Amino acid sequence: MSKNKDQNKLWGGRFTEATDAFVQRFTASVDFDRRLFQQDIDGSVAHAKMLAKAGILTADEVSQILDGLESIRQDISDEKFEWSVALEDVHMNIEAALTSRIGDVGKKLHTGRSRNDQVATDIRLYVRGEIDQIAELITKLQSALLGVAEKEASTIMPGFTHLQTAQPVSFGHHMMAWFEMLNRDYDRLLDCRKRVNLSPLGSAALAGTTYPIDRVFTAELLGFDAPTRNSLDSVSDRDFAIELASFASILMMHLSRFSEELVLWTSAQFNFIDLPDRFCTGSSIMPQKKNPDVPELVRGKTGRVHGHLVSLLTLMKSQPLAYNKDNQEDKEPLFDLIDTVKDCLFAYSEMMPAVNCNKDEMYAAAKQGYATATDLADYLVKKGMPFRDAHEVVGRSVAFGIEQKKDLAELTLTELQNFSDLIAEDVFEVLTLEGSVAARDHIGGTAPTQVLAAVATAKADISKR
Ligand code: ARG
Repeated sequence: MSKNKDQNKLWGGRFTEATDAFVQRFTASVDFDRRLFQQDIDGSVAHAKMLAKAGILTADEVSQILDGLESIRQDISDEKFEWSVALEDVHMNIEAALTSRIGDVGKKLHTGRSRNDQVATDIRLYVRGEIDQIAELITKLQSALLGVAEKEASTIMPGFTHLQTAQPVSFGHHMMAWFEMLNRDYDRLLDCRKRVNLSPLGSAALAGTTYPIDRVFTAELLGFDAPTRNSLDSVSDRDFAIELASFASILMMHLSRFSEELVLWTSAQFNFIDLPDRFCTGSSIMPQKKNPDVPELVRGKTGRVHGHLVSLLTLMKSQPLAYNKDNQEDKEPLFDLIDTVKDCLFAYSEMMPAVNCNKDEMYAAAKQGYATATDLADYLVKKGMPFRDAHEVVGRSVAFGIEQKKDLAELTLTELQNFSDLIAEDVFEVLTLEGSVAARDHIGGTAPTQVLAAVATAKADISKR
């Protein structure tokens, strides 16, 4: 008897030598792909039912196979299943267990399929399930942002460009900017789902199979929209995973931006917000410290997700058709990016409702830095001055203010009139922060009424999901 029989390999027939111990470990994926056991069993159940429908297996054979698969599912869920590296991957571990439980009938399950279409099916099912969970988490975070935006629609903060004070904005408006980024992420995710939710099952190794299989039937059983249309493409394509990774990379880029702002805002120098203590940690040496670890980590974890996108792209680059073992390397980056995105979205959706705005500090900061200078220019334009001239006049007023250490609103009417005789008493209405914010009263503007309207529209939109 040859050594390969001792190892219980499912493909051992043509081998006369046992697999090298290193190669066995190096080629095995069971340590990470066992995560796919539910999907692997779901796929096998659908395949077995189809084999019965097509008359390839008898009703009795299929019922034994289904019972066997369910008992395996139970044992794995209960952590009573013994995984074997010698059996390489999740597929062969489950298939070998099936045969050892129900006898030779178990060996009939693999009729008309290959691990190549099997693994492609498993990953698509897995990714689809995760997409649905990620979509829910995005919605949860978006709802949290809507809550803050509604509460803080009239809270004034400095708006920045180049991280220099630009114009006053409502904090609610800022939250709605984050909301919009997530809205596009959500759309990208659901768009990706359309291309994920197709069934490769039946593509077999690469060319299809000689049995009278029914791919529409298995696709329906598994909740796929349709079977994929080319067997070669189906066993090799992983661009749906790359799409998910690109979605995830953009989402993480957005979360890293939120993180950066939260980190800045919690610093003593800004002091715009407080994060709840339960989302922060202290320093082992500096007793005064309360560190914004959660946003910092989210910002940091962006790196690994972006890395996984590059891993997956590079993994597929230059691969000839059809399946290649390279593809086994898709799983770890894919799983890690999914876990990371879910954790980060969860953290933010829990943390954001508990953010406390230090309104006075935000207001005071908005008063510095001549945030209403554009309003003064617009005021002059409305009185007939060309905008470029108004820009010049206000620039000189600001220079004067800096010299006097006074904000524009703190200059006297006479002082302001030195720069233009178009300026009258009503100028002070536009120089206030409230006036400045309220005046940007159009779709997408920062006026509190517009922010509240945007919140209402957004709430209605996400309630339809
Ligand atoms: N563990 C493999 C993977 O993840 C399953 C498919 C292997 N197919 C093969 N013919 N070696 O890609």
